[in-house]
Amino acid sequence: KNKLLLSGKKVVVTAGGTIERIDPVRYITNDSSGKMGFAIAKVAQEMGAEVQLIAANTSVEPPPGISLERVQSAGDMYDAVLRQWGACDMVVMAAAVADYRPLEVAQSKIKKKDSVLTLELVKNVDILESLGHSKKHQFLVGFAAETENIETYAIDKLERKNCDLIAANDVTVEGAGFGADHNAVQIYDRSGMVERIPVQSKEEVARKLLAIAAGRMGGVMH
Ligand code: PMT
Repeated sequence: KNKLLLSGKKVVVTAGGTIERIDPVRYITNDSSGKMGFAIAKVAQEMGAEVQLIAANTSVEPPPGISLERVQSAGDMYDAVLRQWGACDMVVMAAAVADYRPLEVAQSKIKKKDSVLTLELVKNVDILESLGHSKKHQFLVGFAAETENIETYAIDKLERKNCDLIAANDVTVEGAGFGADHNAVQIYDRSGMVERIPVQSKEEVARKLLAIAAGRMGGVMH
């Protein structure tokens, strides 16, 4: 029955961990495997959406038959998302985007020298926040990966980044979160908790999250 809940909708999904270069052979990234974003893309397509995946560094195969753009850094991901933004109906930011990048990217391999090496980092653009403050008809879904004060931090992100829904991820839960095949999230909107989804496959989590989002989006329901 959920099958066509997203038909006629254009959905952009980000996945994976961004890569912020230090020099030609080194970079900063994180533990995101891409599994959560890939599951969302697959389920959105099953629900009838036209899906555009934008993926940074991932450790698993992307779902077949879905348009995929590969990116590296947070800046690249921002550019790629912005190119889709005007014409899409929903963006789901499942990617783990680096908050900081090296101030300078060395053009050649950094040589070993002193006992301490200091890397200066500068803040990246916050993609979700930027979308949140320029959205018109688009429905915006964020994630919040937290290790403490889950609810407070997630609601703070929801408000600050002006999203319609946020999936709060307690990444300390055994067998869930970064790299795992399963996930557990609490979904919030502006008025509080919408649903608590206990540990289950990322595809099941995606199905529940997208069903809630689809039910709240404007437009024709099929
Ligand atoms: O990829 P997997 O191994 O399957 O793991 C899934 C996951 C744990 C990565 C995923 O479920 C998840 O929680 N993704 C969000 C990770 C994250 O960056 O969370 P955050 O709390 O730092 O950011 C909050 C939100 O803002 C996220 O939607 C993030 O995509 C977005 N963001 C963050 C920073 C930034 N510069 N730009 C952003 O858009």
